[in-house]
Amino acid sequence: MKRLEGKSALVTGSARGIGRSFAQAYINEGATVAIADINLQRAQATALELGPNAYAIEMDVTRQVSIDAAIAAVVVQTGKLDILINNAALFDLAPITDITRESFDRLFSINVAGTLFTLQAAARQMISQGHGGKIINMASQAGRRGEALVAVYCATKAAVISLTQSAGLNLIKHGINVNAIAPGVVDGEHWDGVDAMFARHEGRPLGEKKRLVGQEVPFGRMGTAEDLTGMAIFLASKDSEYVVAQTYNVDGGNWLS
Ligand SMILES: NC(=O)c1ccc[n+]([C@@H]2O[C@H](COP(=O)([O-])OP(=O)(O)OC[C@H]3O[C@@H](n4cnc5c(N)ncnc54)[C@H](O)[C@@H]3O)[C@@H](O)[C@H]2O)c1
Repeated sequence: MKRLEGKSALVTGSARGIGRSFAQAYINEGATVAIADINLQRAQATALELGPNAYAIEMDVTRQVSIDAAIAAVVVQTGKLDILINNAALFDLAPITDITRESFDRLFSINVAGTLFTLQAAARQMISQGHGGKIINMASQAGRRGEALVAVYCATKAAVISLTQSAGLNLIKHGINVNAIAPGVVDGEHWDGVDAMFARHEGRPLGEKKRLVGQEVPFGRMGTAEDLTGMAIFLASKDSEYVVAQTYNVDGGNWLS
């Protein structure tokens, strides 16, 4: 039996990468999924590729009007919202002495405020429907410890873990489960960009950082977006009803090593 039959899901930042794989996995399990992204053109292309149970929405998680419009569009399209994945995020890298306020504000605006206020709007909708819901936030191993060049991104992901705890505790009385996933290093366009930034800051050839981080994962390789979909399905399904305010590492053992 499909585990998300008839469910309506919104996945932010799902035009590519991990969000796209989550959308694909949810569709395979019977859900209808909004491909919500700041890049509408790419969201539309992705929705086309994923088939009739995907539709594209332009959404900028830093703008409240855009958040509200996205939730409203999901309700118009499917009549309800059952599942939200707060997946959109931005990465940056700099030594402490070079961090700019512009970078700090941009990352906190997308990764933290975007997560909180999208979660809030989704929770209001789910409460009005009266039958609970599932909210999944994308944290990171970076939220569990500092990294010399990654202070701001790490701080945003620590905030996501904290928000997941508070929101999880506050919303479970409405039958809304709020939990998070903390991936390790996941191959894809995002990490190609991260690799290029490390190449610049550490004077490495392109591709070297990616190779090194992959070697260090106890599982023996970097993760793929597909490695995360089992947890994303579990956290959106009935099986996780008693799971509240948790952040799960899905990282091939990376954080513990
Ligand atoms: N890739 C990894 O190694 C890794 C590791 C740990 C955690 N994560 C987390 O997983 C999630 C997905 O990562 P990914 O690798 O797929 O990233 P990605 O950069 O490939 O995808 C992010 C998507 O978000 C969209 N986006 C950016 N700003 C937006 C905004 N303001 N509003 C709406 N959409 C916006 C982008 O257009 C893009 O499609 C992120 O939260 C990331 O922090 C990734």
